Amino acid sequence: MILLTGGAGYIGLHTAAVLIEAGQQVVLFDNFSNSKPLAVKRLEAIVGRAVPCVEGDVRSRADMDGLFDQHPVNAVIHFAGLKAVGESANQPLRYYDNNVAGTLVLLAAMQRAEVRRFVFSSSACVYGEPDVSPIPESAALRPANTYGRTKLMVEEILRDLHVAAPGWSIALLRYFNPVGAHPGGQIGEDPNGIPNNLMPFVTQVAVGRLPELQVFGGDYPTPDGSGVRDYIHVMDLAEGHRAALDWALRDPQEVLTANLGTGRGYSVLELVRAFEKASGKPIPHRIVARRAGDVPAYWGDPSLARQRLGWTARRTLDDICRDAWNWQRRNPQGFA
Ligand SMILES: NC(=O)c1ccc[n+]([C@@H]2O[C@H](COP(=O)([O-])OP(=O)(O)OC[C@H]3O[C@@H](n4cnc5c(N)ncnc54)[C@H](O)[C@@H]3O)[C@@H](O)[C@H]2O)c1
Repeated sequence: MILLTGGAGYIGLHTAAVLIEAGQQVVLFDNFSNSKPLAVKRLEAIVGRAVPCVEGDVRSRADMDGLFDQHPVNAVIHFAGLKAVGESANQPLRYYDNNVAGTLVLLAAMQRAEVRRFVFSSSACVYGEPDVSPIPESAALRPANTYGRTKLMVEEILRDLHVAAPGWSIALLRYFNPVGAHPGGQIGEDPNGIPNNLMPFVTQVAVGRLPELQVFGGDYPTPDGSGVRDYIHVMDLAEGHRAALDWALRDPQEVLTANLGTGRGYSVLELVRAFEKASGKPIPHRIVARRAGDVPAYWGDPSLARQRLGWTARRTLDDICRDAWNWQRRNPQGFA
């Protein structure tokens, strides 16, 4: 059985759908700080069966020990964490507590339960402003914000753990910018409050929840002045987790660090135009000041994931926009 911490969240739900369709047994674990129980019901509707979900906090040793005592877990995908870059600057202690201290508690509970296969949600934020794009995994690691530092610290903790306990198999997955939704439109990204990420902002403008999109920065050294990112369809990302899990289940007893991206960048304004085309909805937008901690342009080199995991992102920007719109138009208020 595979434990998905943060499994009721955006990437966790999509990964659970892919794993269950592939025949895996999963248990979700979530404190619902950024997700809703209804989302798990939707997952159950997609896969046509009950999906066990335990409410608890990764920072609670009692919760984690209880989970491992009650479920025959043989691998963990660790999604649980906080992810808002701006918020991480204002609430560093909360971010280090959730993302770093929470992971330590989880790892200690895994050690006690003798579970040694681990897939970690890292982020392209660990690179900060890169010297070149596409960014290879060997690039310098100099995160530009607190959130990125929490991810890098966990990567380092895991590398140290592997030195001391070489029996562990650990995949560090550095995601680029996950967007889109399951093609059925029952699950998707549903952030609390005003979205921090571009796509949910765009889709909420499209359904009239927000009046206009603010584009942070129009004077970056990019072709149209807006920031450039490597947008990856969440279903491709979910399939990347399946590939990383299959790798870990073969017990390679090493630490594998892999980018999960598409290998190409699109600007904010290109994404907005693609979304307008996919949805038929105009997206009123206004260029505003740059946001602190944002990097002008980056995209990932996904060749290592292709070689080592046999995984490549297959879906296009048009697929992303179609599925994001399908989710939001069917669920204008998200999971509410
Ligand atoms: N979405 C992105 O842009 C992105 C990019 C790179 C990396 N990541 C990482 O991927 C992971 C999943 O991201 P997501 O987009 O699905 O975010 P999300 O917020 O939708 O999902 C995270 C889930 O973890 C839960 N959670 C948070 N703290 C917890 C705790 N202490 N105990 C138990 N559950 C807890 C939340 O309730 C939520 O359901 C995160 O670790 C995030 O940092 C996300």
